[in-house]
Amino acid sequence: MIRAEIIGTGSYIPEKTLTNKDLEKMVDTSDNWITKRTGIKERHIAAGDQASSDLAVEAAKKAIADAGIDKDEIDIIICATITPDMVFPATACQTQKKLEIKDVAAFDVEAACTGFLTALAIADSMIVSGNFNKVLVVASEVLSRITDWDDRQTCVLFGDGAGAAILSATDEDRGIMSSYLGADGNYDNILHLPAGGSKLPASQETVKEGLHYMKMEGRETFKIAVKKMAQSVRIALKKAGLTIDEIKMVIPHQANMRIIKALAKRLKIDIEKVFVNIQDYGNMSAATTAVGLDEALRGGNISEGDIIQLVAFGGGLTWGSITVKI
Ligand code: UT7
Repeated sequence: MIRAEIIGTGSYIPEKTLTNKDLEKMVDTSDNWITKRTGIKERHIAAGDQASSDLAVEAAKKAIADAGIDKDEIDIIICATITPDMVFPATACQTQKKLEIKDVAAFDVEAACTGFLTALAIADSMIVSGNFNKVLVVASEVLSRITDWDDRQTCVLFGDGAGAAILSATDEDRGIMSSYLGADGNYDNILHLPAGGSKLPASQETVKEGLHYMKMEGRETFKIAVKKMAQSVRIALKKAGLTIDEIKMVIPHQANMRIIKALAKRLKIDIEKVFVNIQDYGNMSAATTAVGLDEALRGGNISEGDIIQLVAFGGGLTWGSITVKI
């Protein structure tokens, strides 16, 4: 039986930090409010000349080196992002160009914060079908470009970053064991970026009204996030024939520390079993779970033979969970 195993990971976080104290000077907020209500202490902001593909390339290079493969062994590049370099061509194609990997297929996945998990599930299917052997999955976001820096309800939450993983076919007992993805488009108005698409093209009016920035109804999103993430973990575990006790670590999307704690409570697991880095990066949308996976591996939280659970939730609304044996 062919499985897709993760043979290398990498991440890239832009150098510049934006602390809660910095935000106190920009909007009517406080370090105390942000820390208590979200768990975030700082986030990173891409340099002016960095687009999503630039972050993706740095993360991908590290993942390729970690996997110990030649970049030309990669047969397809999938990039998860809601902040593409441009509407088209795909950021995956820009990443391919910059990595100088000639002619391989490349496309983007847009599933907001569930993007990395969606891309992993696609890569898994492509490998299991026997059509592809080595897949570069990269999640990259420059959310600072779609953030309204005058809106205290959103600007304190998000940051920039990228994470990548190389998936490879194996016939050994490891790799992606199960995946579950879900969505509900009826919630399109609680977390969205209204303008710049075919529905509401860019105009002087849309710019004046700030419609090219992310909008979120936090409280409503919060409630659904907790419910759907817990449900996703249960479904993916059931598909894998496992119980939560067999999971070494849960690596969740990092939108709010209170969501992460509520998830742990619903799953009846100790918070120590849940990977947390929200304090350093805030919410990096699709990149969050990719960076979390890389940091959990690099920091020794998880190692070969461990079974882990990735889980995410985001705009769409979308949600999902993936069980992986390292
Ligand atoms: O990644 C995609 C998924 N995203 C999420 O899952 C995010 C889910 N939502 C959340 O994490 C939380 O709802 C937020 C962090 C966005 C907001 O926290 P909350 O505890 O739900 O706050 P709230 O929206 O209920 O607002 C409580 C109060 C309000 O003031 P009043 O009306 O009680 O006077 C807000 O105006 O906090 C105020 N407030 C702030 N105060 C200081 C909102 N943002 C801020 C702020 N600084 N940055």
